[in-house]
Formats: sequence, structure tokens, C-alpha cells
Amino acid sequence: MPAAKTFYVTTPIYYVNDAPHIGHAYTTVAGDVLTRWHRMRGESVWYLTGTDEHGQKVEAAAKANGVSPQQWVDTLVAEKWLPVLDTIDVVNDDFIRTTDPRHMQRVQRFMSSLHEQGWFYLGGYEGPYCVGCEEFKLADELIPGEGEHIGKQCCAVHGRPVETLNESNWFFKLSQFRERLIEHYEVNPDAIAPRSAYNEVLSFLRGDLKDLSISRSTFDWGIPLPWDPDHVVYVWFDALLNYATAIGLGDDDEPSASKFSGTWPADVHLVGKDILRFHAVIWPAMLMAAGLPLPKTVFAHGWLLVGGEKMSKSKLTGIAPSDIIDAFGSDAFRYYFLRAIAFGSDGSFSWEDMSARYTNELANGLGNLASRATAMVDRYFGGALPAAATTDAEHVLREHWGRVVTDANEAIDRLEFATALNATKEFVDALNMYLTEQEPWKVAKAGTDEAMARVATVLATVCEGLRGLAVVLHPVMPKATASLWESIGAAAALGDLAAQRIDLAGAWGVLPVGTRTTKGEPLFPRLEEHQQ
Ligand code: ME8
Ligand code: MG
Repeated sequence: MPAAKTFYVTTPIYYVNDAPHIGHAYTTVAGDVLTRWHRMRGESVWYLTGTDEHGQKVEAAAKANGVSPQQWVDTLVAEKWLPVLDTIDVVNDDFIRTTDPRHMQRVQRFMSSLHEQGWFYLGGYEGPYCVGCEEFKLADELIPGEGEHIGKQCCAVHGRPVETLNESNWFFKLSQFRERLIEHYEVNPDAIAPRSAYNEVLSFLRGDLKDLSISRSTFDWGIPLPWDPDHVVYVWFDALLNYATAIGLGDDDEPSASKFSGTWPADVHLVGKDILRFHAVIWPAMLMAAGLPLPKTVFAHGWLLVGGEKMSKSKLTGIAPSDIIDAFGSDAFRYYFLRAIAFGSDGSFSWEDMSARYTNELANGLGNLASRATAMVDRYFGGALPAAATTDAEHVLREHWGRVVTDANEAIDRLEFATALNATKEFVDALNMYLTEQEPWKVAKAGTDEAMARVATVLATVCEGLRGLAVVLHPVMPKATASLWESIGAAAALGDLAAQRIDLAGAWGVLPVGTRTTKGEPLFPRLEEHQQ
């Protein structure tokens, strides 16, 4: 029997016209959480991210900085884009650059093959182009310029004047795929999520779908068309192909051919809603033309806003991930954005909200629960986990936990990270409440065997809850949960945290009696200590 298909997750490949900001980190963290989550279900997962390095926009950035495009992208990738993956604690399996020879060769082969099949023709293009979007625009997509751009037609996204292109270009017969795309989405309503994104694409497709210019001849920072090397491949055609070139598109030698057949199609293409149409219209049409299976889901998440507008490199409103991570740590960063914003909706970042959630949910919530419980196991039982008896109060918690695991796993299948994290947060609150109500520190004062048996039950119950929380929160907060796993003695008793099964984490009574606990450093130091 062939091995099960690898669960394949991708992020957009980001333009290297500048350094990454928290908008890019947001998508990449979401992909990482999804990857780790599926791995902890025992699935094979492949997680790809990378950089989009060709095109006019990157070329212009290089020029403005007085270096060659190749020097510019090499420096920026090495100094900014690769290091940020460590900063945000991401475990991608591959990093594709569109300047990689493996990518460029496979793109050329793909283009030749579509050309041979008659999907391209030479035509003339005259019309507006936004370099910020790297997109050919229609007249009704433009807005009148303001301020310094008054009197000019501007891109509605970037607020900057569009260029008028007048070139002879190669065109892709995109219009021929309109019906097939509509049919595909009608049959596969989960192929675009959330629902608002699905509706947007369908109504776009029901309008007029035009053929697409797929080459440029007035500059040369791109991949030459094999049959007409005066043209370079349109940067979006080049970029979209990364998802397939990275896993061996078109190779018939091993192990490359097996890698591709065992991985393609993508299970989830994560994108921001700004680039939904490229992924839900152009990309599947390219795949149809090549006779390849279509991605299972394109998920378009919302925007991080600054002052009500999309945070962006070009508007200089970017906040670097390290600005936040230096103060709060990578775990809190990862937790915050997935917890505070419904995935699919826009959200504003604010330091106040970030600090409030850090303090309430992490420092005073999970962190305090863990330190109270381990400190008491230390004090009353010499750091050896005692046995639990079960009364109604424990029964309620056990049932609650079972629901949390079911709900969180189902929420992740829908990419509702906030729903999953709300479920775990409510369980942390329930355990803290239980500890407060049971008052084991008061019960212990009686010192009788009966009293100590009760204290044992309460502490063993909380530690068991922490065991489950460490497993379910591991994809989101890898570092803090690993410390928690150590401090409740689970690492020695149950093995590696990442090897635990997240779909089976709802079992109860897993942490063995006698497990050695230690009260470690606080999982989430209070902010005052942090910022000194
Ligand atoms: O579009 N809020 O690259 P890009 C949320 N190279 N997410 C944001 C964001 C924000 N304010 N800003 C950026 C490109 N992102 C192309 C993609 S893919 C074949 C080619 C994230 O550098 C989000 O994922 O402009 C968005 O779609 C992506 O970065 C755009 O990055
Ligand atoms: Mg952009």
C-alpha cells in the first residue's frame, strides 16, 4: 500500500523589497501551528515558506539602494528573512527562493510545456500596472490620487500612481478556465475559506474573466521565457509555481518524483486576503492547464491593521516581530495573534491588548497555575506526584477536558485558531478556579491522612490538567509548554512532548503516580521583570 499523502502546508512567498513585519510573521506562525498540530496527530507534514525575489518591485528596491538585484535579495534573505524564522520559532521543512536554480529550471520547463500545449499566445498589452501589487489593473480598479499624486490615477491598495504599460506580451488563455473554475468551486465549497473569501471569488468568476499577460519585456529581473528570452515570466506566474517547484514539479527522477506525488496537492495554502484571487483564480487555472490536481484549501486570513489601514512595507507602518518578541517572548507572540483575532477577520495590534492578555491569560493564568501546583507538590509531597481519588469536582474537570480536546481539534480542522485557544483558556480558568475553591493549602493544615488524601487528589488533578494543556498548547507555545512538561515530570515519565498525540490528549489519568515534579522558572515572567 502506498504511504498516506503528506499533509502539505504553505505560506505565501514574501517579497524581499524590505524586511519582514508582523503581518508576514502572522501567516508564518499560523502555518507553523497547523504543521505542529498535524504532526502531533501522527501525520506526515511538509511545511514550505520562502521568498519572492523577482519582478519590478524588488528590482526597484535594489536600485534605490544602489546594489544589484541579486546582491539585494541575497543580503536581505540572509540578514532578515531567514533569521526571523528563528525569532518566531518556526519549524519549516523547506525555504524556497525564486532565485534558486531548482525553481528557475522547473518554472522554465513548466512554461515550455504549457507553451507546447498552446496555452500561450503573443498579444499587445496597453493599460495600467501597479508595481506595489505587481498586477495589471482594470480602469475601474483605480482611484483618483490625493496629495502629491493629485491628478493621477492610483492603485486603490497602495495609493500610488499606476504605470501605463504598452508592451507586446505573452498571454495565458485564462478566460477559458472560467466555467471549469466555477464548477470546481461549486463542487468543492471548502476549496476556499472562509466563506466570505469563497463568495468573493465566485462573484469575481461570474463576471468577466480576461486572459492574463504572463511575460514582461521592458526589464529583465526575472526568469527568461525559454522560447522567447527577451521576455521574463510575469512575477506572479513565477511566484505561484513555487508551491510545486519546491517539491519537484515535473521531475521524473527519484526521489524527486515520489516526493511530488506524495505531497501534491497542497492541503492548505495560507494567504492574506490581499492575494486571494491570485491563489483562487490564476493558480488553479495554471494547474488545470498542466493537468495537475488542485489545492484542497486556499485560506485567506484577514489583515493586521495600523490606524485602520493594512500594515505594510510600502507605507512604512510595519512593526518588526522582534519589537514585540523582545518584550513578551516568542510563545506569547504566537499565542496572542492567533488568540486575539479570529482567523479570517482583520484585527488591530495594540500594546495594551497584548500586555493585558499576556498578564491575564499567560502570566496569571497558565503560568500561575503551573507554579502554584508544582510548588505545592513540592511542599506537601516532596516533589512526587501523589495519587488522585475522584469526587464530583474532579469528574467535572475530566469531562470538561475531554470536550476541550475534541473542540480544539475540530476548530483546527476549520483553521479557527481562536476557538481552539478559547477552549484551552477556559480550561485554565476552570483549573485555577478549582484550586482556589478547593484551597488545598488550608486543607493541608489539618495534617490528617484524610486531609492529605484530599490535597493529593486536588494537586494530582491539576497536574493532570497541566499535562493535557502542555500537549494541546505545544503547537502554539513550543518553548513554554516544553518547560511545563519538564516541571510536571512528564518528560521523564511520558517522553518527548512533540511525540505526544494531540488527538488522544483528552485521555485522563495519564501522568503516573510518583512522577517527579520541579518548580521551575515562571513560564511567563511578569512584565515588570521582563522589561527591566
Ligand atoms: O504578496 N496583515 O508578498 P508580500 C496580515 N510575493 N498579513 C499580512 C499583512 C498584514 N498587514 N501584510 C502582509 C506577496 N501579510 C507575494 C506573494 S505567493 C505566491 C506571492 C502577509 O510580501 C499575508 O500573508 O506582499 C499576505 O498575503 C502576505 O504577507 C503578502 O506578502
Ligand atoms: Mg504585499
